[in-house]
Amino acid sequence: MTDFSNDSSVDAAVGKPSIMEVPASVSEQVANASDDNFALRPEYKPKSIRSYVIRAGRMTQGQKKAFLSYWPKYGTSLFDGQFNLIERFGREAPTVLEIGFGMGASLLTMAEQEPEKNFIGIEVHPPGVGHLINEAGAKGVDNLKVYMADAIDVLDDCIADASLDRLQLYFPDPWHKKKHNKRRILQPEFAQTVRKKLKVGGVFHLATDWEHYADQMMEVMSAAPGYENKAGEFHYSARPDYRPITKFEMRGERLGHGVWDLLFERQD
Ligand SMILES: C[S@@+](CC[C@H](N)C(=O)[O-])C[C@H]1O[C@@H](n2cnc3c(N)ncnc32)[C@H](O)[C@@H]1O
Repeated sequence: MTDFSNDSSVDAAVGKPSIMEVPASVSEQVANASDDNFALRPEYKPKSIRSYVIRAGRMTQGQKKAFLSYWPKYGTSLFDGQFNLIERFGREAPTVLEIGFGMGASLLTMAEQEPEKNFIGIEVHPPGVGHLINEAGAKGVDNLKVYMADAIDVLDDCIADASLDRLQLYFPDPWHKKKHNKRRILQPEFAQTVRKKLKVGGVFHLATDWEHYADQMMEVMSAAPGYENKAGEFHYSARPDYRPITKFEMRGERLGHGVWDLLFERQD
């Protein structure tokens, strides 16, 4: 097993303290950041294999303003323990959680299009989080909360069992080199973690534009106990209307690249 702490790109990106140390919460980092040094790190717990590379990097003035203005409204911390849906959203409503929302374009569109649902986004990339909360804040979106943290830790520590109506994993990092395949977030154990967090009848929606990852997703999900493929065994689904088509996907379509959607429903 590769020890991820030896990945020099990680330590080079975040500098000291070491990668194996638990970082401060995002709120503390924002409160302690000086004007000319505003590099944030996501929240995570030490683990040997990660599905992402931590890149702290310097934030732009716009992203910095976004954290100062909107983190208190949208942000929520891995270190705060169980997320109380009713308290945080002020209502009981169907809840959708998205892992790895990138810059957040499709998550924001969905939150705007379905105000009757609660949306929770999880992303480790600080500029993407800054971008999403800035746009959401400017538009006055009220049905969204965000973690800047490792999704595995958030699922384990913060999300109640049988509480989600849908969990979205769109275009996860493909880690296409064979030696890196173990970093792919979708593994049999992860499929079961997701199942536990979905309500019975809730849906795990995956999408990828990487054919080998689509094959692996189909293999892992078809073998996962407690799920039913909504398109029928070993069939991919058509893109549901609620998943906005991204610019990147449109370009891919013009170039003849494929996109595969998988919809698996929790049975028990
Ligand atoms: C290839 S990008 C796709 C982004 C977006 N879903 C889209 O379709 O444009 C994958 C994203 O997942 C995030 N990611 C990877 N592993 C993660 C984890 N364990 N927790 C939270 N985010 C993660 C990465 O930072 C990256 O932004």
